Amino acid sequence: MDFVEQLKSSIDIVKVIGEYVRLERKGATGRYSGLCPFHQEKTPSFSVHQQRQFYKCFGCGASGDLLKFVMEHDGLTFPEALRSLAERFGIPMPQRNEYSDADSRLRAALFEMHEAAADVFRENLRGPIGTEARAYLDRRGITAELIDVFGLGFSDPSGQSLVRRFSKYSAEQLEQSGLVRKRNEGTGHFDSFRGRLMFPIHNESGKVIGFGGRAMRDEDQPKYLNSPETPIYKKTTVLYNLHRARDGMRKGGRTVLVEGYMDVIGVYAAGVREVVASCGTALTNAQVRAMHRHADAVILNFDPDNAGQNAAEGAIKLLLDEGLHVRVLTLSGGDAGSKLDPDEFVKQFGGEAYRAKLDGAATYFHWMADRARGKFDMRTAEGRVEAFKWLLPAVQKVPDKLERAAVVNDMASYLGVDPSMVLDQFKRAASERRPAAPVVTRTAIPSSERILIEALLASPRVREEILPQIHQDMTASFVTREIIEAFRHVESEDQARVFADVEGRLSESARALLHDALATDHTEEGLEEELAWSQAKACLERLQSDGRRRRLSELKSQVKIAEREGRVKEALSLYGELEQLERETRSRAS
Ligand code: CTP
Ligand code: MN
Repeated sequence: MDFVEQLKSSIDIVKVIGEYVRLERKGATGRYSGLCPFHQEKTPSFSVHQQRQFYKCFGCGASGDLLKFVMEHDGLTFPEALRSLAERFGIPMPQRNEYSDADSRLRAALFEMHEAAADVFRENLRGPIGTEARAYLDRRGITAELIDVFGLGFSDPSGQSLVRRFSKYSAEQLEQSGLVRKRNEGTGHFDSFRGRLMFPIHNESGKVIGFGGRAMRDEDQPKYLNSPETPIYKKTTVLYNLHRARDGMRKGGRTVLVEGYMDVIGVYAAGVREVVASCGTALTNAQVRAMHRHADAVILNFDPDNAGQNAAEGAIKLLLDEGLHVRVLTLSGGDAGSKLDPDEFVKQFGGEAYRAKLDGAATYFHWMADRARGKFDMRTAEGRVEAFKWLLPAVQKVPDKLERAAVVNDMASYLGVDPSMVLDQFKRAASERRPAAPVVTRTAIPSSERILIEALLASPRVREEILPQIHQDMTASFVTREIIEAFRHVESEDQARVFADVEGRLSESARALLHDALATDHTEEGLEEELAWSQAKACLERLQSDGRRRRLSELKSQVKIAEREGRVKEALSLYGELEQLERETRSRAS
């Protein structure tokens, strides 16, 4: 068991939170409630669940496990929270070299190798083999100070520096590090990065966990070679530069999100410390959450090319879903009015100009509206309405009602759409989809969905035998669809880990839903296997019959249309299918 799990399983969350909040026991089993420590309130809406070891506030939406509570409440980083709890409860913190299991030993070796590799690369850059790389950096305006801050380096073209340096490590450690590779022929290894400019990538506590290596000539491909995923480098959770940006993010209440290593360095050079990049992968929920832990606002400053703008569209959606305030900066001012990436802009116009641009960045819907103009034919009324409809979901994420109305008006006039018709569209959409409540969205979870989740949680047999029969189109309209989907990935044999497994896959909003779904007294104990099975089975049957009913009415209207349009053959075959389905339905009913 890894230390984090060991710690979590030996400390009771009720005991820890109980030191800050006066908790009162509710019901026979382990639910406690009290006044929320994260917002002002007079009546308790904060509850702690002993059995599942999480807390949840219905007032402000705060929720999480033991470690999250300590991090949030005491303003600590993850390792600090670990240490604090370990000390408080007298649990020995493992020293790096005292890690007991093979897994931890491997990770410790990998950290050590990355540290050493960063040193080697730095030395190379300073030494005689670094001449060309130094000249390259100089051309790009990267000063000695920036080289130092970002720990930039150069990898030896011979491919032997690291291999030689790593003689004390086992073949498995070498290969798992991603830093060296096995020769295809003969024996031995060679360095993965050769003749490249090296950017160390750190985790949030500042340890080197990987590298990006940039080619220095256009003919060298790929332009960037990045470390593979390793036991210490999970690409989907890492943000480049987060460990340096954190303080600035907390102070300024905002994060500048850019695309590349060079952009981060350029923006940093402009005096903006709160800058991070997702480095070459599409932004993930985990990265968005990492940003949210430190600041509520994000300014997106991606490259102006197509790839960058498409990436921005995806990123905006994720950021809004996490409830962040989003602004978008697109930089113009290049030759012939072209647009620039952050790094080029700072180089051409300086830090002050860049900071002014950041401060003036418009909210995301202005950017979205411009994008809509490009996507639809704005010369026709239909095109303008389509454009507006495309924008609606984003507009609806504006939590404040008055602000939302103002945005609707703004957008309408910007797109040249008749405001009254817009309002009509908007009302219709609003009645179909409940707009977000100001503080926290509390979506009502239908009891059938809740029961299904309970059953999935309680019974391995339900997961193995019933879940595969619940097809994705059956749950398309589920409030808890993301949760049900997460159950499909559960591999754990260990019943006690299922909850954490599922929870770990969810976005923040789905996690809150999961907590909501389980936050009633009568679900406290979990279902008995027998009951879980019969409830899930009933649920499946209902979904199947709903599906048949939907298909029936679909077929009926298709038959009508086919008949009307004179497609006789098609009408007949549809009719055959319809009859078949009707027979099936009758036989099931009887
Ligand atoms: N990237 C990558 N692999 C590539 C190209 C890009 O991993 N073949 C990632 C890198 O993290 C890079 C980011 O995508 O930093 C953005 O790409 P790009 O804009 O091309 O790179 P810059 O960092 O801006 O570098 P430069 O200014 O030197 O082109
Ligand atoms: Mn660039």
